[in-house]
Order: sequence, then C-alpha cells, then structure tokens
Amino acid sequence: MASSYEIPHLEAGRAPAATTDVDLFIVPAFQDDPASGLGPFDKACGGELSAAVSRGEVTGKLAEMFGATVVDAGWKARRVLVVGAGPRKNFGVESARRLAAAAAIAARSQRRARVGLALGPEWSAAEQEGAAEGLTRANFDNGHYKTQGHDRFFLTAGLLVGPGADEAAVHRGRVVGEAVNAARVLINEPANELPPRLFVERAANLAAVPGVTADVLDDRRLAELGMGLLLGVGQGSVEPPRMLVLRYEPPGAPPGPVLALVGKGITFDTGGLSIKPADGMERMKDDMAGGATVASALRAIALLQAPLRVLAVIPSAENMPSGRALRPGDVLKSAAGLTVEVNNTDAEGRLILGDALWHARQLGATHLVDVATLTGACVVALGKITTGLFGTPAPWVDAVAAAGRRAGEKVWPMPTFDEYRESLKSEIADMLNSPGRPAGAITAAMFLREFVGTTPWAHLDIAGTAWADERSAWAPKGATGAIVSTLVQLARGGPGGWPDA
Ligand code: BES
Ligand code: MN
Ligand code: ZN
Repeated sequence: MASSYEIPHLEAGRAPAATTDVDLFIVPAFQDDPASGLGPFDKACGGELSAAVSRGEVTGKLAEMFGATVVDAGWKARRVLVVGAGPRKNFGVESARRLAAAAAIAARSQRRARVGLALGPEWSAAEQEGAAEGLTRANFDNGHYKTQGHDRFFLTAGLLVGPGADEAAVHRGRVVGEAVNAARVLINEPANELPPRLFVERAANLAAVPGVTADVLDDRRLAELGMGLLLGVGQGSVEPPRMLVLRYEPPGAPPGPVLALVGKGITFDTGGLSIKPADGMERMKDDMAGGATVASALRAIALLQAPLRVLAVIPSAENMPSGRALRPGDVLKSAAGLTVEVNNTDAEGRLILGDALWHARQLGATHLVDVATLTGACVVALGKITTGLFGTPAPWVDAVAAAGRRAGEKVWPMPTFDEYRESLKSEIADMLNSPGRPAGAITAAMFLREFVGTTPWAHLDIAGTAWADERSAWAPKGATGAIVSTLVQLARGGPGGWPDA
C-alpha cells in the first residue's frame, strides 16, 4: 500500500534567493504591510506582486495565496507563491507553521516538489522550527486506502532561506512534523485494521529509535498486575487488551526527574452496553489518539536526544458490547486497589487510564501527563479549537501550559476544585465512573486524580482537538496530531525548567 506521508529533505539556505534552486518560492506577506519583504521577488516577477498588493489581491491575511511567474531569466526558481502571514502582532510559532503548511499543500497540488521559504529578519528560531514542522506536516495524504483516481504528489525538498536561517531549528521542526504525521496515520486507521494487539505493535515500532525500549503487557500479565479496570473495559471484545510501556533512557541521564506520558488507547469506542447512537459512531476509531500522540512524541523526544528519562504508558482496549461485556452496575477493582462502580460503560477512558497512571507511578514516574479523547463535555466547553488542561499542583500544570505556548498549540486550564469530587461518590464502591452531566470534563479529571497520589500530574483532554471535521488550508480532514508538539516542548524544557516534584 502507498505510504501516507513522506519526509521532505529540509535545509537552512543562506544563498541569495535568485541562485536558490527550487521549483517554487514561498514568500510571506504580513497583513500590516503586505508589500514589505516582497522587494526582490516583486522585481523578479516583473512587478506582478506589488501590482497585486495595489489591487487588493494580496492582503496578508493568514494563508491567503497569490501565485506569480518569475520573468527574470537569471533566477533559478520559476514560480513565486505569496502567502499571508497574518498581522505582525499575532505572528508566532502557530502562524509560521500554518502558513508554511498551507503553502506547501498548495505547492503539492501544483506538483512543485522543491520549495524555498523566504525568511524575513523577524523569524526567530522557534518560528523557523514551526515553519519546518509545517512543511513536513503538509507532506501527508490520508488516501492510502484508495486504489483508484487518487493523485499523490509529495514535496521532496524544502529550504528555509535567509541570512538568519537556523539549521538546528529546521532539523527539530522536521522531526516534530514527522512525529505528527506518524500519529495522524495511526489515528486515521480504521478499527478493523488496528485492534489493541496491532495498535501497540505499531506504536512500539514508531518508537523503535535509539535509546528506547518497549515492553508489551498481554492480558495474562495485566491480570497478574491486578489491572481490573483495563481488563474490565476490554472483556467484551474478542480482541484482548494490552498495555504498552516505552522507556527512553538517554546515556548519562540523571535518575530523576522521570516524565511519564500516559495515552488513552481505545481502538474503538462503541460505548459498550451503554451503547452510543449510530450517528457519528464511526469517528470513535480515533479514541486511541492519546496513545498515538504519546508514542509519536516519545519518538521525537528520543530522536532529539532530550536529556531526561521519559516513559510512555499506553493502555489499549476495544470497548464492545457482547455476551461477556462489562455491564452497567458492575464493580471493578483497580491495580491501585480502589474499587469502581461502573454505572456507565461509555465512561471507559478514565477506567483504563486509572490503571495506567498507577502503573506509571510504579515504574518510577516523578511527573505525569496524560492525553486522552476523554469527554464530549470538553468539546461542549472548549469546542474543537482548544485542548482542556487539568491537574495539580499549579506549577506543574503551568509548565505544561507553557510548553503548549512554545509549541504554538492552544491549551487552556480548567479547575479541579475538591468540591467536584463529591459527585464521584458511590453507594457500594470507592467511586463511580460516571457522575452525570454537570462539569463532565472536570469530573472525569477528578476521577483520574484519585490514581495519581501526590505525583505532579496534568491531564490533556483532546476530545475536541484530535480530529478535524473539515479540511483547512493548512491541514487535512481527520486526525490532527494535536499535542505531539506540546509534549516534545515539555520534554525539551525539562529538567532545568521544571518545578520540583
Ligand atoms: N471517547 C469518548 C469521548 C468523546 C466524545 C471523544 C466525543 C470525542 C468526541 C468517551 O469515552 C466517552 O464516551 N465519554 C462519555 C462520558 C460519559 C458517559 C460520562 C461522554 O463524553 O459522553
Ligand atoms: Mn466512551
Ligand atoms: Zn472513549
């Protein structure tokens, strides 16, 4: 089968634009002053660009595009694509990534394989990294099951061109962009192709890079460890549950901190006996997005040789109704010893994460971050724009929020006041798994909190952000790869930049 993405060859270029050998030059234009920065390109295009600015065809609005032909025979590039960079005051990693991705997607549709991106003096290393990530992300195509009539054309090379072009930033962006695409491939994969057994195998292959070891816990081992929550969620499916543990240990790393990334890996969420409505159920193949995200992030973290120990713990199950499925009202015993009354089998993510968070602590985690498509309530609260952030204590949650800002991803804090815990009370067990509609995203986080003890913990609810219902100029419909970049930034920011455990 054709592959879903290709990694372009990316470099920092210092040669003048005229002698840079590419098929297409991408030239950003800012909304405040769209003509500035076009100078040499405008001249090469015989004044076409400044004429378009005067006509109002180039305004600099983010991802707006205008193409022109190079008429100067002394130039190597034959085409220029002016792409909007938005207002200068909003310029940052996110707009850099989006404009680069949008321009590269346009280049692919015009079958131009080698692109140059003209950097102005305002481009920081972080923004260059974002642009390189965007060029790489754009080299993604989710039509790998189409056998007919599907046109596939990938970029082969991208150059960030300018006196300040930063080779290291370009390399980092390419590694992160590739990890995002790897996550997208797994998330888009239909559930019949990806039962827990194969999901953990493919996630382990993704992370098979120097410094990383993998361990798959099968159902027998899960039973030995007493993981009743994960086993309970998985018992209705003919495909048994698994837990994947990845360990990144760079040579000479200090014993602590140990960052553990925990990702929800429900390969399909029917809801179980508390079954979901048919409409939209097909999207629940993305319910392993958290797991794919942490495995892909670990790959990038290891490739970039972050100087600390990082674990990934990925519990995986298929949530199915059947004659042996978990029933509403059943009581399960977690590996941590806490008992849970399952009043709704569709609140399964928090169950498998409960056992996984506990296991991560057994493996020596000093800092926890979990990533999960956990609640519809988070989508109600924040829409498909923003990832919900929960956790404790505040300095650790702040460190995760700061990583989100460095990554140019929208992450926003939500409260976890003790009062919200009240609704988790069960008559017959230590807690309930589904406390009802009010504050549904928060009470799900409160459930997870019961398993983290005093270890600093942050929870990222990507129910809204993992999947795009429509394509945009800079991204296809489907899996987004949200939060991969944030996790990489978090690992790169530690241990010096982290609060103490
Ligand atoms: N995987 C879903 C959450 C979800 C919903 C993600 C919509 C993306 C889009 C999760 O397992 C779930 O079903 N949550 C329930 C919890 C409820 C039963 C307490 C929900 O949100 O309805
Ligand atoms: Mn569910
Ligand atoms: Zn789910």
